[in-house]
Amino acid sequence: MAILEIARMGHPLLRAMALDVDEPTASDIKALVADMCDTLADIGGAGLAAPQVLVPKRVVIFHVPADRITEEPGAETVGLTCLVNPVLEPLSDEMEPGWEGCLSVPGLRGVVPRYIHVRYRGITPQGEEINREAHGFHARVIQHECDHLDGILFPQRMTDLSLLGFADELKHGLAETVEARRDSAGNIP
Ligand code: NI
Repeated sequence: MAILEIARMGHPLLRAMALDVDEPTASDIKALVADMCDTLADIGGAGLAAPQVLVPKRVVIFHVPADRITEEPGAETVGLTCLVNPVLEPLSDEMEPGWEGCLSVPGLRGVVPRYIHVRYRGITPQGEEINREAHGFHARVIQHECDHLDGILFPQRMTDLSLLGFADELKHGLAETVEARRDSAGNIP
């Protein structure tokens, strides 16, 4: 068990394209994923990508815990999922803005548009093939984690930087202001 150091925005590995993994079930990948799971459990959060722990490989882990889907009718929790070489495909053009944070951008949260319906595929370190459709927060978290593999952090996906703020300042009303602007289609003009 090891808790890994998490790189913060500005580190060059967070801007780099991560490399495909030749052998997803290799022992070094299993060890990396185990350490990433320990790290995520220690720090808390929905997901973690290998470049965040300074390993430039296409490996992500994530989960959708019950407390993240309380406002989303029909949403399901997703247990901790470890994916090597994930591939993501939007299943519609429809996007929805929502709040995100990132362990590599500590303290900040921002409103990011993401596809609401995606399919993703990948292989686990145990050699199991994963092929899932995802909606809502599940779709958001896999898009966020896969972006890390392409050197993209959530602020780069934002379309309105006035909706970027420190989490402990959002209690002063920004979150409510933003939600009040959300229209019936879920968009924030
Ligand atoms: Ni992140």
